[in-house]
Parts: sequence; C-alpha cells; structure tokens
Amino acid sequence: MSQKRTMTQDELKTLVGQAALQYVVPGEIVGVGTGSTVNKFIDALATMKDRIKGAVSSSEASTKRLTALGITVFDSNEVAELSVYIDGADEIDARGYMIKGGGAALTREKIVAAQSRQFVCIADESKLVPTLGKFPLPVEVIPMATQRLIRQFATLGGRATVRLADGQPLVTDNGQHLLDVTGLQISDPLAFESQVNQWPGVVTVGVFAHQKAHVCLLGTAGGVKTLKF
Ligand code: 5RP
Repeated sequence: MSQKRTMTQDELKTLVGQAALQYVVPGEIVGVGTGSTVNKFIDALATMKDRIKGAVSSSEASTKRLTALGITVFDSNEVAELSVYIDGADEIDARGYMIKGGGAALTREKIVAAQSRQFVCIADESKLVPTLGKFPLPVEVIPMATQRLIRQFATLGGRATVRLADGQPLVTDNGQHLLDVTGLQISDPLAFESQVNQWPGVVTVGVFAHQKAHVCLLGTAGGVKTLKF
C-alpha cells in the first residue's frame, strides 16, 4: 500500500510561492516582500517576467534576487500605487493580522504594503496562530533609544533583546538596529501597533494590523488553502 508523503516546509513554501502568481496583474508593477517564502515567489515570478513591468522591492536581498533573474526593480517613489503586494509572515491570525520582520525588512515591507491595494500573504501552515506573540516581535529602532525601549517593553511584560549578526548589533537596510521581544500576547494588534509606533525611537513595530493581509495563501498538507479577511 502506497503512503502519501507529507510535504516538507520548503515544499509548502514553493507551493504558495507559485500559487501567488495568480494575483500578479500582467503589465503592472508588483510589490515584492522578503524572506525564504518570497524567494520561492520571486523564482516563480521569473517565469512570467516578460509579462510584467517590474517590481517594487522591500529589501536589498529581494532586489538582488529580482535583478539577478532579470526583473526590473523600481524605486517605491517612482510608483504611486501598486495593485498587489506579496509577502510572507512570521505569524498570521484568523483576522489577517501578522507579525513580520524575522528577515529584518519590516520597515520597507510596511512601506510597500501601505502603497498596495491588496496584501497577499504567502505562508506555510505553521505560521497560522490563534494569538500573535509567540514569535519574538521584531521592532526596528534608532540605536540611541535602545535601552529606554527595552525598559518600555518590560512595562508590557516583554523581554527585548538586540538582534545580533556576527556578535554585533544587526544593522538593517535603513542603518538602524532591531529588538526582538518575547513574552507578549498581542490580543488587540491594532491598538498595540498604534501604541508602540508612537514611542520615541521606534522606527517600525513588526505588528502588521493597520497593513494587514487581505488574502493568505496557506500551504497545508492538503494543498493551498485561501483565507480571505
Ligand atoms: C522578513 C519577513 C518575512 O516575511 C518573514 O520573516 C517570513 O519569512 P520566511 O518566509 O523566511 O519564513 O517579515 O522581514
């Protein structure tokens, strides 16, 4: 008797990366996120590169991959509005609210999401959660505010640490640092995002509630599930 093999997380990412092509509008510029799932999308996008005008990218890493595959990358200032933005997530809940920034690109991701009419999240099923907060929340910060912001997160019950790369604070594409905050249960993502965003020194908080997903293509053992919010 033949047994059906369960797909690996990498295969689920490939599946949703390819499924996202259906949301790309021929002749237009597409918003492109960052991360391992988006890399699968970029690879799939290359198969239709002659049918799109190009992309607006959310990171230096995605820009490098897009250009290497022959896809023109536009500066976000050159484009008023995008019809669709395709990106992954570290967590997504049943309302389309997300935690993002595991790949350190949250600020540019939020900018491109804000200039897009539709946010299509691509994720494997491990990312779907009842409440945001198990994944350490990324927050991009101005370095001189780091210690004060660590103390402010402590007042909410969070433990914030500076993200390191090779033993030194990671420097984002925007020249800033990142905090990762554990111990939070974000039951009201809209209010949480608004609150933390106005703390002096916060560049961007990795809660995407005001820029939530409209659609999630979720890679599951049974295939791609489409969630609409
Ligand atoms: C990058 C992100 C990514 O979308 C998020 O980390 C998910 O990445 P992956 O697809 O590699 O799991 O927010 O800043």
